[in-house]
Amino acid sequence: MQVFERPELLPAEPNIDPDVTSKLRWDFDRFATDGLPDELEAFILEEYGIDVSSEYAGYEIRNPWGKASGQLSMTARQVQEDVDAGLGFVVLKTVIAEDGAGEQTMAAWAIKESRMLVESIAGQNGETGWTVRWKGRGWWQSFDDYLRLIRDASDIAKSSDTLIVPSCKYHLPRPDETEWNRSEYEFTTRAMLEAWHSTDERPMPLEKDFSPTLAGSDLATVQTQILEWLEIVPSLIRYLGNVPVDNAQNKHAERAPVRIGLKVFNAMFDDEFQLRMLEKVHQTDAEPCDFYIHGNRLFDPDRDFDGHKGIAYGGPDLSDRNLRVMHEFARRRQNAGGLPWCATGNILSGRTAVEYALLGASSFQLHTGFQLPSEEYSMKVGNKTQKTLHKLYFHPTDGFIAWCLHVAGQKSLDHPIRFRDIVG
Ligand SMILES: Cc1cc2nc3c(=O)[nH]c(=O)nc-3n(C[C@H](O)[C@H](O)[C@H](O)COP(=O)(O)O)c2cc1C
Repeated sequence: MQVFERPELLPAEPNIDPDVTSKLRWDFDRFATDGLPDELEAFILEEYGIDVSSEYAGYEIRNPWGKASGQLSMTARQVQEDVDAGLGFVVLKTVIAEDGAGEQTMAAWAIKESRMLVESIAGQNGETGWTVRWKGRGWWQSFDDYLRLIRDASDIAKSSDTLIVPSCKYHLPRPDETEWNRSEYEFTTRAMLEAWHSTDERPMPLEKDFSPTLAGSDLATVQTQILEWLEIVPSLIRYLGNVPVDNAQNKHAERAPVRIGLKVFNAMFDDEFQLRMLEKVHQTDAEPCDFYIHGNRLFDPDRDFDGHKGIAYGGPDLSDRNLRVMHEFARRRQNAGGLPWCATGNILSGRTAVEYALLGASSFQLHTGFQLPSEEYSMKVGNKTQKTLHKLYFHPTDGFIAWCLHVAGQKSLDHPIRFRDIVG
């Protein structure tokens, strides 16, 4: 099993002016009891000289922090809290696509699973972290309810700078299937676009969730199948169920106003195959996606929960894998550039976020980080989104500000420092 080296991207401690560390410590302590400043980005720019604005799906975002799709973005109230806390973007829970008759080929993913267990987990490197144990399914209410969530969330976010992002799991043929269910792609995309455009005229950002269930098929067939999915899916979404075969046809095909982000999952194969997946996302015979997200959770066929064997998990092994794969990917591509990408996976500190940023991630989406036990947060007021931002930004030795200043020093960047100049 091929495993790449985990890169040493940052030293143990940030190399920054001790006066700045003291200032961070002071801010960290006072915000823990008083709450964060109202104009957080302006405060960071003024006090620490860092412009934290960034980019997601080709849109400018006020800061690089986002809520990852899941149980914490299922209701308007959750979205309201995130908008109030000032997240850069919120990815809604994944809906399962359907056709006009309400049929879902991925219906097995639309089953209600509400019990979650947040627990500590040890990584293979000896580090301890956190994971969420649950059985892992998508939106289980009606599609109309999901369309209402898109409308409500967009409405809530309208007067803010927070970007709302729907997420969808469309049909994926198994190795024994030859046809794509095109009507699911068409019907679901059109309906989500209509809901999105009720408040926002811009193209809709959309995350395409994979989460495959391919057990039982032989390895080579599965690999071929995964690569085909990554190749075809962007066109199926963009061309509303069609895949134009050449450029001449593309000009005439109806093109949906979407910005497609593939949420690249960690396949149960070695690191080399993970690189092949990333290569395929970039070099397809069809049109590539607009951006991608890397990399959704690891899968352990032996771990169980609530009588269900085989569940996804996160923690230190997840960020280790993502960082070593993305490092090798960046090394091999050298100057070839790449699509913009958003990092996900065990981002519990600003330091880990900056590691991902050094490998090209211009934004970060968290799930586990927003649902730790209360005693894990130093901030004693506000909701968990605010508490997480407090820790991510201001932790004196592990925080985003400290590590951005460290990298800016190493790269001799001019002040004010732009987070975007640290990316890649
Ligand atoms: C309880 C739970 C539910 C999730 N549901 C979804 C989902 O519906 N769609 C999706 O794309 N990812 C889903 N994820 C994956 C997260 O969006 C995220 O990418 C992943 O957990 C890695 O980030 P983390 O280490 O910060 O948790 C879920 C994760 C958890 C823990």
